[in-house]
Amino acid sequence: MSLTTEQRYKPYSEWTEEEINKIKANAASSPWHTTFHVEPHYGLLNDPNGFSYFKGKWQLFYQYFPFGAAHGLKSWVQTESTDLIHFKETGTILYPDTPLDSHGMYSGSAMQFGDKLFIFYTGNVRDKNWERQTYQNGGLLDSNGHLEKVPQTLIAKPDDVTEHFRDPQIFFYKGEYYAIIGAQSLDKKGFIKLYKAASNSYKDWTFVGDLDFENDGTSYMIECPNLVFIDDKPVLLYCPQGLDKKVIDYGNIYPNMYKIGQAFDTENAVIIDPSEIQNLDYGFEVYATQAFNAPNGRALSISWIGLPDVEYPTDKYDYQGAMSLVKELTLKDGKLYQYPVEAITSLRQDEESFENKTRTSNSYELELQFDKDSRSEFVLFSDQDGKGLTVIVDTAKGNITIDRSQAGEQYALDFGTSRSCPIENAPTTANIFIDKSVFEIFINKGEKVFTGRVFPREDQTGITIKDGQVSGKYFELKY
Ligand code: FRU
Repeated sequence: MSLTTEQRYKPYSEWTEEEINKIKANAASSPWHTTFHVEPHYGLLNDPNGFSYFKGKWQLFYQYFPFGAAHGLKSWVQTESTDLIHFKETGTILYPDTPLDSHGMYSGSAMQFGDKLFIFYTGNVRDKNWERQTYQNGGLLDSNGHLEKVPQTLIAKPDDVTEHFRDPQIFFYKGEYYAIIGAQSLDKKGFIKLYKAASNSYKDWTFVGDLDFENDGTSYMIECPNLVFIDDKPVLLYCPQGLDKKVIDYGNIYPNMYKIGQAFDTENAVIIDPSEIQNLDYGFEVYATQAFNAPNGRALSISWIGLPDVEYPTDKYDYQGAMSLVKELTLKDGKLYQYPVEAITSLRQDEESFENKTRTSNSYELELQFDKDSRSEFVLFSDQDGKGLTVIVDTAKGNITIDRSQAGEQYALDFGTSRSCPIENAPTTANIFIDKSVFEIFINKGEKVFTGRVFPREDQTGITIKDGQVSGKYFELKY
């Protein structure tokens, strides 16, 4: 069922209990619910928001529309964790309930100030002609889940941007607070603005400059920019919508990219000596990745496994979207690595060897090794005939391909059914996390990552090894 604009923006209080119970029951009947990935019980999840550390707990919020698989009136749902693996919904929802966010509490970030969690977000507003207005707003959340919103907007829309100006990320660097915000220029180009907090107050922001990161200038909007520091080097993660594929090839409707700089010039808003633009993830869906530096400095990220403007097989069950695992970001030999936090190994149950299996729980981890000059092909979510998600690791030719064309219900076909990325001809490892309808594949402990969804048929629960000398381990994962 697709929702009309009116339904998507209807006040939450106007949905009847009967309507909500119907949506809940429908969502509960889906065969594809994840076990160890955050997803909504019903309704639509998109961007991770406010990923932070507050009073001894990791905080992760997500963009949420409750009443079906649609992008409508968005709120933030709070989850908390002590190990970055088990996230528990607290029941706290931050609602769009002021004139500065009447049509959605859009994406943003969070950071502790005093004994409160400062929430920095975009207020989406439509006026009576349905013209969009955008406000960068703030609020203080206490430990009881009460949000005290600042009654005035914190950063007004500058004159040189359109109404597409959103997703403030607050970060702390060398004793000062900064924020970057995604923007569209009047001639419809994506760029990023940098602000600094005057006298370290979350209420008082001054403009520093348009961030110079050798932007190729081909996108029409940059969403969800995030700056983190790894070994003191700035790493910029961002979503340049409409990026020209001549700049860098990518398969998804909208890309999530990154650049690594050598230093950050805070006065002139420059990321010094930035790398070429690079694809954060080679799979079918990773978007709006949010990253931050934890209090002890380590850089953590989490991604929305989903994309805007794509219909998913779960839509008929009135829900959509999942979060990735939390990934730790590190730099090795100048390259970005993304790998699940160590506590993920706590989910491992019995260890078995990697071999053909007719039936699994579709909730497991594989740890595989591939030789130099070798080619291996195997199928996950496999049926009896070896049809499912095909993975081909070819160290001789130097590439990895995944193909989901035979893995259950098909969707997003306009964007193709396979993805690949280059690898070096060297011994290669893969850690593969399978969770009912999610896969996350980490090559060489995070040098390359493929993330995506498949919606298998009921009989697609096996593993079929088709070709090659692949060896390794299988761990059942239990949440
Ligand atoms: C990215 C995005 C953000 C926006 C949010 C709205 O997916 O479009 O730019 O704040 O989603 O839900």
